[in-house]
Amino acid sequence: MTTQSDNPSMVRRSLLGALPVAAALGACRPGARTPALPAPRTASQEASAREASAHGASVPVGARQPGVDRPAQPQTHAVVSVYELPQEAGSVRVAARVGEVLAELAGKPGGGAPAGDLTVTVGLGPRLLGPAGQGLPGGLQLPAFAREERTARAWGGDLLVQVCAGDPDAVALADARLAGVLAAEGASGRWSQAGFRPPGGGPVRNLLGFPDGIENPRTRPELDREVWLDGPGPFGGGTVAVVRRLRIDVSGFLAQPATRQEEAIGRRRADGAPLSGGAALDRLDLSAKTARGRYLVPAMAHARRANPNATGSGRMLRRGYSYRNGPEDQGLLFVSFQRRLRTFTATQRRLDDGDDLMRFVTATASGAFFVPRAFTPERPLGGDLLGERG
Ligand code: HEM
Repeated sequence: MTTQSDNPSMVRRSLLGALPVAAALGACRPGARTPALPAPRTASQEASAREASAHGASVPVGARQPGVDRPAQPQTHAVVSVYELPQEAGSVRVAARVGEVLAELAGKPGGGAPAGDLTVTVGLGPRLLGPAGQGLPGGLQLPAFAREERTARAWGGDLLVQVCAGDPDAVALADARLAGVLAAEGASGRWSQAGFRPPGGGPVRNLLGFPDGIENPRTRPELDREVWLDGPGPFGGGTVAVVRRLRIDVSGFLAQPATRQEEAIGRRRADGAPLSGGAALDRLDLSAKTARGRYLVPAMAHARRANPNATGSGRMLRRGYSYRNGPEDQGLLFVSFQRRLRTFTATQRRLDDGDDLMRFVTATASGAFFVPRAFTPERPLGGDLLGERG
């Protein structure tokens, strides 16, 4: 059988039919207003970062997809795009086609420039997984949460494509290439959002000027325990991704006095040090109190509310990007990876119940996806999950 990939004219047509990527890509990056942050905390974290970046080359190789914990320091630019496949689409064929394009982008057979630090991470939505998805611990259906502006277009979806690189042009080109191929397979773009983060080692500042991504699993044992599913079954080597576009009322938050802002986060703005004391980027001491018995990290501080000890959940790897579509639409392109969806839902529920940061935050796009193990020529992306539905 001739596939589209065998037919160069079809491939060319796919490129021409590329869906538009977000126009704001890299265009609105704010200048550095605040001092650089200290490097990551411990020697073991640095060792794990070295180990991860040693394996950090481009698109999927080995058992696990990149763009999750490889490279350890997220690249500075990203686009997240979510697609819907037509009901009758052969998921296996589409996934195989995506795999071919990823190999091509990596500069493997089929041509293409060297990929640099480009990573492409692909996730499958609940409808695509079908009955097979029921085997996934905790499933993939996100419930309704507070402060959501839902539109059918920006909620859910069948296919997640996260493209990251240090070079925004490389991100845009790879995203457009994949969009074109998917359009040729009948997929339609649901939503797409470009994001950016300042360069630098360790946590970087978000649009509110606070260091973000401090409390994250980093060492290999932590990542294996909290992020990745294991075992030989169809979910082994995979992880669950949650992506949400979170609009922030930045001017509203910044209109508060600096101490109030710090109380809303639970950390100091200058260096990320916990309000409970200790050095920059240390862990929070949730039990620390003032002489008069008040918590040093206030009861409604975001970092306290989201802390796994408070939520009773596992830990998530947050790998988000700032986004800015204009003064009225800017915030956090939230991306988290965890081994089960409950880690996210239990945390978000707790934030919904009270959180002095979340008062300024509205979700405008959302979805959960299973990120299957990386593909090989013998085993197409998601092949053992989509098999019976091809
Ligand atoms: C616009 C929205 C958000 C902003 C600006 C934001 C920002 C921050 C900041 C500055 C910190 C403290 C530094 C750090 O540990 O990284 C933090 C911690 C954290 N956030 Fe968020 N966050 C947002 C939304 C969320 C959401 C939706 C979740 C999950 C449902 C979440 C989960 C966490 C977790 C788990 C921590 C670490 C808490 C700990 O110390 O154990 N955040 N966030």
